[in-house]
Amino acid sequence: MRYAIAADHAGLPLKRPLSEALDRLGHEVTDLGTHSEERVDYPVYAEQVARAVTDGEADFGILVCGSGLGMSIAANRFPAVRAVTPADSYGAQMARRHNDANVLCLGARLLGIDAVLAMLEAWDAAGFEGGRHQGRVDMLGGLPRGQALAAAPGAGQAAGERLAETDHQGARGAR
Ligand code: RB5
Repeated sequence: MRYAIAADHAGLPLKRPLSEALDRLGHEVTDLGTHSEERVDYPVYAEQVARAVTDGEADFGILVCGSGLGMSIAANRFPAVRAVTPADSYGAQMARRHNDANVLCLGARLLGIDAVLAMLEAWDAAGFEGGRHQGRVDMLGGLPRGQALAAAPGAGQAAGERLAETDHQGARGAR
């Protein structure tokens, strides 16, 4: 797969280890900066990666800032981007499996290198499951256009499933 990666000054220390890990996992990596410790603005780098994903120049993006939060807020301004800031490896895996997330945002001030690499590996090993999740991901595309989700395909089914979730199989039960 083709990855675009970028970081601001706070995320810079993790950019190289993440790029090297992507390389080891067999991916092609394009580094879109930043390249020095000089203070920079995270929206600029989120935009670079979000445009690469939107334009089809990259299949996936990785963004690193201090918390991972500003990067995900900025990247999600692009309708084709589904950026997430998972808390752990489980979240990274589920973001791929259920949300078809295409940009992984990480917080260098929150996470150590071991946790970050474990999250990347969990993300990489997981694939989108489609099925009932595809309809929900399709609904996301309607949100920026103000589409009424009750009118979206599969909305009734999702509501029914929400009711059923009150009786599901534990905190990590997946429906
Ligand atoms: C930079 O100090 C910090 O605000 C930035 O890296 C990021 O965490 C913002 O969300």
